[in-house]
Amino acid sequence: MSPIFVAIDTISMDQALTWARAVGPYVGGLKLGLEFFANNGPHGVHEVGRAAEKPIFLDVKLHDIPNTVAAAVRALCPLEFAYITIHASGGEEMMRAAAEAAEEGAEIYGVAPPKLLGVTVLTSLDATDMLAVGQDPDVGTQVGRLASLAKESGLDGVVCAAPEITQLRTVTGPDFVLMVPGIRPAGWGEDDQKRTVTPEQAMALGASHLVIGRPITQADDPGEAAAAIARSLGVEAA
Ligand code: C5P
Repeated sequence: MSPIFVAIDTISMDQALTWARAVGPYVGGLKLGLEFFANNGPHGVHEVGRAAEKPIFLDVKLHDIPNTVAAAVRALCPLEFAYITIHASGGEEMMRAAAEAAEEGAEIYGVAPPKLLGVTVLTSLDATDMLAVGQDPDVGTQVGRLASLAKESGLDGVVCAAPEITQLRTVTGPDFVLMVPGIRPAGWGEDDQKRTVTPEQAMALGASHLVIGRPITQADDPGEAAAAIARSLGVEAA
């Protein structure tokens, strides 16, 4: 199974379907985020998954009281997505409720249970921001703490930046999903990402999945860009 998830960052249904069809044969799945969900809703998610014939990673970063997050996870289950994000800072009870809801929703709707991924510390926050919201300004410490809590609370993995992979593999063991954005193939610029790594480097560090957006979607030929990255990882047939 290819580790590549393509970030379909658009509000346009037509654009999303075009990218989904182009890259579908070469990747492991597609990531749809809040901007797409806000404009196209659950129906849009379902359509894009069908067009790509690949698993969907629904990156909606849920964060609320346990009952509400659980209800949202259950309500989304009929979409048959493979992964969904929730904020680990929502706490153990919230994460446990979400994990139970994923199992319940899968049972109710007759689908495979989605895997839950924790969001630890947003990469847009630095030490000053962390202090301002009353959290540990040592971002690495806070990331490790939240990843451990996510694992203890029944989550399947976390989203993390490449520089965090080595530490988190030690903390979480070999089977935890580490879904890693900020990936740039050699020769592609950094865009607004800082401290990027190549797909090969991220896998060598211990990533299990890679989130790659613009190097594929903004390429002249997104299908070929996805195929080239897949070849560089030795996963030609997704
Ligand atoms: O285009 P690019 O490859 O930079 O897209 C990366 C995707 O991963 C985007 O959807 C972005 O929101 C997401 N992401 C990220 N950095 C994080 C978490 C998520 O770039 N720390």
